Amino acid sequence: MRVGVLASGRGSNLQALLRAFPEGHPCVSITCVMSNRPECLALTHARSAGVVAPAFPRSAYGSRVEQQRAMAAALVAAHVDLVVLAGYDQVLTSSLLQPFAGRIINIHPSLLPAFAGTLHAQAEAVAYGVKLSGCTVHYVIEEIDQGPIIAQAAVPVYDSDTEDSLAQRILEQEHQLLPAVVKWIAEGRVRIEGRRVVILGGSGQCEHC
Ligand code: GRF
Repeated sequence: MRVGVLASGRGSNLQALLRAFPEGHPCVSITCVMSNRPECLALTHARSAGVVAPAFPRSAYGSRVEQQRAMAAALVAAHVDLVVLAGYDQVLTSSLLQPFAGRIINIHPSLLPAFAGTLHAQAEAVAYGVKLSGCTVHYVIEEIDQGPIIAQAAVPVYDSDTEDSLAQRILEQEHQLLPAVVKWIAEGRVRIEGRRVVILGGSGQCEHC
């Protein structure tokens, strides 16, 4: 399975994917990494790993739709099967959503549907006083953070937590969960049934994984 990763920031989830699926992995290839932010660390990590990593800055295009149309064309040209949003900070438009419908996943640092549609989910979780938080990997649809949930991991929230300490605890789970989901999809074990996602046990597993 050929995977294209979209990232805008420090790229720690991308690094987790590159560790899980190094070059030559028998079932998953991190084929390309793309960003809207030319200077982001994620692009540096990708290039150090020898992965093609172009930037598509918003300023180079007339609109977000056109920018994402160019990204979609590059993903199609790279024969990408699955698009992974790993800290990608732009809302997706139809020019990217349509050609990859049902083939885009995102990782969000909360237990959705709690704290959806925000870039500050961990701070909001601490401020709200929830006792559990975590991360969610879900399919991407037009409505932000509302696509079918594939997998979640929970962590405790302690009285002493700050945004940073909770974010770090959640991040450790993100780095496990995202590669696990990518592997399940590569194995053909993830089936969307309306709003729900079913993980098929055992069947279709890659003999190498
Ligand atoms: C992660 O917390 C992810 O859940 C959110 O953006 C952050 C990206 O972190 N969508 P990194 O760039 O992968 O380190």
